[in-house]
Amino acid sequence: MANKAGTLPPKFVAVYPGSFDPVTNGHLDIIRRAAANYPSLIVAVVANPSKKPLLSLQERVDLLRQVCAGIAHVEVDSFEGLLVDYVRRRKASLIIKGLRIVSDFEYEFSMALLNRRLRGGVDTMFLPASLEYAFISSSSVREVFSLGGDISEFVPPAVLRAMKRLDGSRLGLKKRTRRRGH
Ligand code: PNS
Repeated sequence: MANKAGTLPPKFVAVYPGSFDPVTNGHLDIIRRAAANYPSLIVAVVANPSKKPLLSLQERVDLLRQVCAGIAHVEVDSFEGLLVDYVRRRKASLIIKGLRIVSDFEYEFSMALLNRRLRGGVDTMFLPASLEYAFISSSSVREVFSLGGDISEFVPPAVLRAMKRLDGSRLGLKKRTRRRGH
């Protein structure tokens, strides 16, 4: 059995897809646990998420590369188009998804069925979020941060630094107008 993604038989290569806008401690927990249990894991960042992302594709990929640097057999990549086509191109056969709350399940279950119908042989495996991360999502992190809340508990330090460097206008913050003197 070879030990590099792409040289392993498909049944040993899994893909963990997502928008990662930004990557959170919850994502990182899923990546660590999937990588500990699977010979090769590709974290695949979708180039065109359904909603306009806060971070560019390059920023999302770079942050993931930084936070995954110490985790064995993890590769970070990006993809466009159908996930199942990417999974096939990368000679993988399994999609990993994290489930946080019960309402995630309905959507993810139908996606898993759809993806299997689109490409027979591509299956999905769900990992339940660890309890301490079950309430964290990228969208809530973006919202809390843009409203001035503390996200340091929810994201890796590299992500916090990157968010703090963002121009306020990208976060939807209006420029402060200087008060006129009387
Ligand atoms: O982190 P997200 O936004 O929940 O990830 C969603 C993602 C990237 C897994 C999903 O949007 C996706 O698979 N996009 C690729 C396009 C595709 O294959 N669509 C068919 C299933 S809807």
